Amino acid sequence: MPTYVRGRPQSGLKEIPTVRARDRIGGTLAFKRDQLGFLGRGIERHGDIFRFRPLGIPMVLVNHPDYIRHVLVDEGEKYDKNAVLFKVVRPVLRKGLIANPDMELWRRQRRMMAPHFTPRTVSTFTRNMTDEAEQMLVRWEANYGRGKTLDVTDEIGQLALRIVNRSLFSAQVGDIAQAFERAFGVANGILGAFFRFPFPPLSVPIPRHRRLRAAIADMDAFVSTFINRRLHEQVPTGEETDLLTLLLHTVDEEDGKGMDLEQLHHEVLNICIGAYETTTNTLSWAFYLLARHPEAEAKLHAEVDEVLGGRTPTFDDLPRLPYTRMVADETLRIYSPAYQFMRRATDDDVIDGYRVPAGTNMLINSYLLHRHPDFWDEPERFVPERFAPGPTAARPKHVYVPFGSGHRVCIGKHFALAELVLVLATVARRHRLVPPPGAPEVQPEALITLHPKGGVHLNLEYR
Ligand code: HEM
Repeated sequence: MPTYVRGRPQSGLKEIPTVRARDRIGGTLAFKRDQLGFLGRGIERHGDIFRFRPLGIPMVLVNHPDYIRHVLVDEGEKYDKNAVLFKVVRPVLRKGLIANPDMELWRRQRRMMAPHFTPRTVSTFTRNMTDEAEQMLVRWEANYGRGKTLDVTDEIGQLALRIVNRSLFSAQVGDIAQAFERAFGVANGILGAFFRFPFPPLSVPIPRHRRLRAAIADMDAFVSTFINRRLHEQVPTGEETDLLTLLLHTVDEEDGKGMDLEQLHHEVLNICIGAYETTTNTLSWAFYLLARHPEAEAKLHAEVDEVLGGRTPTFDDLPRLPYTRMVADETLRIYSPAYQFMRRATDDDVIDGYRVPAGTNMLINSYLLHRHPDFWDEPERFVPERFAPGPTAARPKHVYVPFGSGHRVCIGKHFALAELVLVLATVARRHRLVPPPGAPEVQPEALITLHPKGGVHLNLEYR
C-alpha cells in the first residue's frame, strides 16, 4: 500500500518518470496517432504513473487503484475539472454537471439533481426502457428476417435516444432525434481529435470548427424544442412525471430557488449526451461480445428463461438477473465507453512519494486500468464471472471505474445499469444476435468516448 503525504511537497520526494520527446515511444505525434498505444507503451516502460507533455501540456497518467482513489476520492476536493479534456468538451457541455469546473455551482446543481437519479426515481422510468426495447424487437422482426444484417449500433442508438426522450420529455422520437445523433457523432469525432492534438484553437474558423459549431447548434435546437414545448404545455403529473418536469420544479434546499432556464438547458443537454452514447456503445459491445461467446450467451439465456418465464422484465427483476448484470459489468470493463477522464491538481500534492505540482492534468484511462495485469487475469478475455460477488470483493474497488468515483461519480449510474440489464434481458428472451459469416473483428475507436469503429453488425435469429 503506497503512503501518501498531505500538504506541500517535502524535499526527498520522487519525480514522476517522464516520457521525453526524444524517446522512441514519446512525443506529441505518437499521442495524436494512437493514444491508447502510446499510453500503453508508457505504462509498460514507466509503470503506473508517468508524465508526458503533448504539445507542451503537462499531463500525468495514473494507472493504479490507490492513485485513482487518491485523486477521485481521498483528496478529490484538491482536484478539479479545469483539466484539458474538460476544457475541450466545455464548448458543448458548458455549465452542465459533466464538465463544470465551478465547484460552488456544481455542488448546488448536484444537490438539486441527485434526488431524481436514485434507484427509486429510476424505477419510474424502467417501463420506458422495456416498452421501447419491445417495440424495437417488433421492428427487427418485421425488417431483419432471413439473414439480413442489422446495424446494431445504429438500432441501439435510436433505442437509447427514445428511452432518454421518453424519460426526460415524455416525447416520442422524430426526425429531430436523428439530427441530434448526427450532430453528436460530428462533435465526438472533432473533439476527440482536438483533444489528442489541440491545434489550431477552436476559435479559428477552419471548416472543421465551423462543422463543430453547427453540430452544437443542432444539439441546442433539440433541447430547446422540448423545453419550449414544456413551458407552453400542460405539465405531466404523478405517475406520468418526467425528468424535465422534476428539474423544472426542483428548488435548492439552501436558498429555496430553482435553476434558471439557461442552466436547465445545459443540464438537459448534459443528460442527453451523458445518457445516449455511453449506453449505446455498451449495449453494442455487449451484443458483440455475446455473439462471440456462445457459452456466456447460453448462461444469459438460462437465467432470463428461468426468472422471466417469457414475460417482459421489470425494475423488481433487476436483483434476480445477476448473470445479466455480470455481462453488463464485464462489457463495461473491456469497452468502458467513458474510457478517459481527467482532473487538474489545484495545489501541490504528493502521490505515493511522487511530487505532483499544482496545475498538473491527471489522466485516468479506464481502458488501460481495466486491463491492468496485476489485477485482471487474461484481461482481454470476456469472462462475466469476474463480477461474481467473491472475485469482486477480492479486488480493490478503484481498479474498476466505468462510472468514475467520488463526488463526481456518474449521476446516471443507476439509470444506465437498469437500462443495460433490462434491454439485454428483453432481447435475450426471444432472440440471438450472431456474427454474419466472415465478419471481421470490430476495433475500438478512441474518440471522446470509446466507439466501436464502423459499428457492430450482427444477424438476427429466433431462439
Ligand atoms: C453506460 C453508461 C454510462 C457510463 C459508462 C457513464 C460514465 C460516466 C463517468 C465515467 C462519469 C464521471 C466522469 C468524471 O469523473 O470526470 C460520468 C458522469 C456523468 N454522467 Fe454518466 N455514464 C453513463 C450513463 C449516464 C446516464 C444514463 C446519464 C444520465 C441519465 C449520465 C449522466 C452523467 C452526468 C450528468 C455526469 C456528471 C456528474 C457530475 O459531475 O456531477 N451518465 N458518467
